[in-house]
Amino acid sequence: PVLDIDSITTMFTNSDEAVINKKLPKELLLRISKLITCFLFYSQSWNVLALDGSNWQRIDLFDFQRDIEGRVVENISKRCGGFLRKLSLRGCLGVGDSALRTFAQNCKNIELLSLNGCTKITDSEGCPNLEQLNISWCDQVTKDGIQALVRSCPGLKGLFLKGCTQLEDEALKHIGAHCPELVTLNLQTCSQITDEGLITICRGCHRLQSLCVSGCANITDAILHALGQNCPRLRILEVARCSQLTDVGFTTLARNCHELEKMDLEECVQITDGTLIQLSIHCPRLQVLSLSHCELITDDGIRHLGSGPCAHDRLEVIELDNCPLITDASLEHLKTCHSLDRIELYDCQQITRAGIKRLRTHLPNIKVHAYFAPVTPPPSVGGSRQRFCRCCVLL
Ligand SMILES: *[C@@H]1O[C@H](CO)[C@@H](O)[C@H](O)[C@H]1NC(C)=O
Ligand SMILES: *[C@@H]1O[C@H](CO)[C@@H](O)[C@H](O)[C@H]1NC(C)=O
Ligand SMILES: *[C@@H]1O[C@H](CO)[C@@H](O)[C@H](O)[C@H]1NC(C)=O
Repeated sequence: PVLDIDSITTMFTNSDEAVINKKLPKELLLRISKLITCFLFYSQSWNVLALDGSNWQRIDLFDFQRDIEGRVVENISKRCGGFLRKLSLRGCLGVGDSALRTFAQNCKNIELLSLNGCTKITDSEGCPNLEQLNISWCDQVTKDGIQALVRSCPGLKGLFLKGCTQLEDEALKHIGAHCPELVTLNLQTCSQITDEGLITICRGCHRLQSLCVSGCANITDAILHALGQNCPRLRILEVARCSQLTDVGFTTLARNCHELEKMDLEECVQITDGTLIQLSIHCPRLQVLSLSHCELITDDGIRHLGSGPCAHDRLEVIELDNCPLITDASLEHLKTCHSLDRIELYDCQQITRAGIKRLRTHLPNIKVHAYFAPVTPPPSVGGSRQRFCRCCVLL
């Protein structure tokens, strides 16, 4: 058969490369493949086509193409870099580390890279110097990926796995076994994880200072005990929506982790003033505290904060929105918090404008976020024609 360049291009831009493999005999494929390689790198006229890298989103150099040199791969990388999505180097014995280095620098959009049988490529040493890795929302990542990662990157200090929803306790066990340097770990909304996996992290990662497990609804007080026993340097703990946590767990935590600075306890619906009392006594560095939707908190708990972190001029942000028992008395207790910069009071129905005004006389620069429903006008306003119902006023 006679093949012209156009038909070869058509085949190569066909989304299913396997079709070519099936339709043509191997000897011919070898020739086509060599022809293309040849044209791609030596022929001026083909260069024009090849330079339009968008024609080359997939390249398969076939498993019998043993004489592809590393330079060829480097040239492909440079020419097709941004466009190349799939590259198969199956059986390319000539391709080594240097070619892959160029490839890694240029082909940022690669989705599939086959190196099957590329025996000249040496073992990767992993990323011994990598300190921060953010693969948040990569929801296809599983325990195997995590295992490979933590084994080859022993220097990781920050690992962000927010929204990696497939991760289960097995993945956490791999992290817990290889985290000599880990300081920050974010597992927000990894909703399948439980105490079992997290406890191995607490026991294994002694340098941990920041942990986010917000939205991991299955965890219990056992985590707070494990943190208290193993991670005394903890500074940041985010456990929003972990509604099984109670005062018992937070008491152990506070008694052991005196360096806590930031805590997000939003919707930890079981906690009471007991937690605030322990935090006030043992955690004088507390700067940011969210108690949104912690409906059992009262003015008494806030009074203790006023004599704890506030007395040390630390507390900067306190979120009390949707805490229905909080009244103006809480604002009185906070008036000595000179570092207080922001307070959230949305839907605190017992807070009044007058209370906020009094707080402002002590803390003139504080940002207060509150909402007051418009007052219903007295029935005497206007004539009968202008009388309208409550709902209409709100609308
Ligand atoms: C790679 O590209 C360079 C510069 O464009 C060229 O001189 C060289 O011959 C090419 N090498 C191969 C093996 O294709
Ligand atoms: C991690 O990546 C996500 C998604 O790109 C981004 O929103 C987030 O800010 C990043 N987090 C950090 C700590 O870099
Ligand atoms: C998490 O808790 C829910 C509800 O209590 C339960 O159905 C689910 O099986 C738990 N998941 C795990 C992984 O334990």
